[in-house]
Amino acid sequence: MSVKDIEDSLSLQVCRKQTLVIDRGEGVHVWDVSGQAYLDFTAGWGVTCLGHSHPVIVNAIRDQSARIIQNPNSGFTYSPARAALLLELKKVLPPGLERMFFANSGAEANDAALKLARKITGRSKVISMTGAFHGRTLATLSVSGGSQNAERYLPRVPGQAFCQHNSIEGIDDVIDSTVAAVIIELVQGEGGVRPLDKAYVKHLRDLCDRHQCVLIIDEVQTGFCRTGRFFATNAYEVAPDIMTMGKGIAGGLPFAAMAMTARLADAVELGDHGGTYCGNPLSCAVAAQVIRYLNENRIEDKVEKLGIVAMQDLLRLRDRFPDTIKDVRVLGLMMAIELNHDHQVWPLTEFCQQRGMLVTPTKNAVVRLLPSLLLTQEEWREGVSRLESALSMLAVTRVAVVSPGGLR
Ligand SMILES: Cc1ncc(COP(=O)(O)O)c(C=O)c1O
Repeated sequence: MSVKDIEDSLSLQVCRKQTLVIDRGEGVHVWDVSGQAYLDFTAGWGVTCLGHSHPVIVNAIRDQSARIIQNPNSGFTYSPARAALLLELKKVLPPGLERMFFANSGAEANDAALKLARKITGRSKVISMTGAFHGRTLATLSVSGGSQNAERYLPRVPGQAFCQHNSIEGIDDVIDSTVAAVIIELVQGEGGVRPLDKAYVKHLRDLCDRHQCVLIIDEVQTGFCRTGRFFATNAYEVAPDIMTMGKGIAGGLPFAAMAMTARLADAVELGDHGGTYCGNPLSCAVAAQVIRYLNENRIEDKVEKLGIVAMQDLLRLRDRFPDTIKDVRVLGLMMAIELNHDHQVWPLTEFCQQRGMLVTPTKNAVVRLLPSLLLTQEEWREGVSRLESALSMLAVTRVAVVSPGGLR
């Protein structure tokens, strides 16, 4: 395809802003149409956990697509691919989560969780945290904070309330027996890699038990080894009633899931929820292979170790660039560099790009690093060196205050 064809096609998009045209990827690298290589520390927004075009994924797509891609679901037909995925998930899910529903995106899985909470409790009020991000459907936007997304589409779904992220004060007054569900990210992703305290989550669990409301843990971004645990939930010793998953689950194919306790699942009747592509055999086959690979190769341990190295390197950069970097936060390979000013985010992103590295611009003055979980120490060192060079460029440049169009 010619460059002109690509440029002409841009006018057919709803939003035209697109600078980099990625043509292919392999491992932690992607190449643009001119052949320029980039170290990819976005992993397609935290999705391609095994890197790009990993043979495990390529082979699973090839084998399954040659057999069958789609068959009717909702209890009408079943597939060996779905069976294989359920059995792989059973090996890795936190205890107590015994039943599964499949979806196509994180937002869709969260939407299903909110629906189920309504059905179980007969209530509709949902509590979420300031700074949360749970998706872009109307229901999930309603429980997401931040002016850039949710507040463009007011009013929210009625009966929604926010708690101050990680602040125990006043929470006992907000969570009462009118609440259907509390939905949380154990580590806020779009909110800037902000973990919840263990005691806080334990208190939320106690409140949910006391008032018989559903605790939903959104592991869409944190799941599948991203934080150095298979699920972030494993580090919290708190059992959710529902856990949602997405992003890394199928290494790049659009896929998501909702796991729940048997008690909740028993209340679901055939036809309560569904979707044409939910649990399609192609995505199930790929997800099963991705999960098996992550589990059998103990990728969570490798991620945890590399995360410790990463923290040391990022702290060093913080000490070297105190006028630019305010804070760094690292959990496994989920990393945030918090800058002193929001308007530094885009220039740093662009300087990284000029140095051959893609990073994830985020709200609240944060740049996130979300590389493939198979990143090696050498690739990490190369990334740090490019980042350091980009930070040096930022330090000597008087940055204009730009509005970050298209920022997620
Ligand atoms: C924690 C969390 N939940 C839900 C979502 C929405 O997932 P999706 O974009 O697949 O709908 C995201 C996406 O970034 C997320 O980070």
